[in-house]
Amino acid sequence: MGRKRLVLLGPPGAGKGTQAKMIAVKTGLVHLSTGDILRDEVSRGSQLGQEAKQWMDRGDLVPDKLITDMIEGEISKADGFILDGFPRTITQAKALGEVTPVDIAINIVLSRDDVIKRLSSRRTCRDCGRICNSLFSPPQVDGRCDMCDGELSQRSDDHPGVIRKRFDVYTRQTAPLIDLYRRQGTLQEIDGNLPPEEVLERIMALLVNDCSENSY
Ligand code: AP5
Repeated sequence: MGRKRLVLLGPPGAGKGTQAKMIAVKTGLVHLSTGDILRDEVSRGSQLGQEAKQWMDRGDLVPDKLITDMIEGEISKADGFILDGFPRTITQAKALGEVTPVDIAINIVLSRDDVIKRLSSRRTCRDCGRICNSLFSPPQVDGRCDMCDGELSQRSDDHPGVIRKRFDVYTRQTAPLIDLYRRQGTLQEIDGNLPPEEVLERIMALLVNDCSENSY
């Protein structure tokens, strides 16, 4: 068996990005985040970025075709991966299934109220990309990253109205994937309210147990 093909599911703010970064460090698996790729396209002002921005700013999903064209090549190249934010619709899940099977889909569960609290206080380092939280894990120096002293910023879609919209979009368009992966026998669930280190420990245990040859 080759390297693991992992999908992280869960509402906005469940901790997918936080966990994916830590799993990538521990396992060497490639972390592919459609949200990070899109934000990079937006900041570079590319054509894709300009098109995507209108949907992202409203809290809507970017059309499936733009997303699958953007990510499929990266997935095909990767020898094992952690998908964070993809697939997001049944159409995207089918497109993924045509490129590669998924070994394990982990749903990080978090309630709507917790999502709103967490995302309103999320901060991201402009330099190293580290994710933190001004309420739950405040930085040692206000506005600066604990890791590299870079400037912390707030995402433009992390405002209460857009956060609520993103949660509703998640419930309507992405939550059905939970059943899809359950039916495929690949679904595992983890309580997203556990401390980040404990969520990571549980994910690592699932990955190791799921792996008969003990390779990631
Ligand atoms: P994307 O960037 O994917 O956003 P999201 O799914 O809304 O997820 P988030 O990044 O908001 O949350 P997360 O689960 O990664 O949480 P995090 O680890 O940061 O997408 C943004 C937009 O791009 C979409 O709205 C859409 O427009 C577009 N898009 C992207 N992919 C697409 C696709 N496939 N199809 C179509 N459109 C697409 O943590 C959140 C906060 O909680 C942080 O402050 C963190 O420090 C804290 N935290 C994390 N874990 C814990 C814990 N265990 N306990 C306490 N606090 C914690």
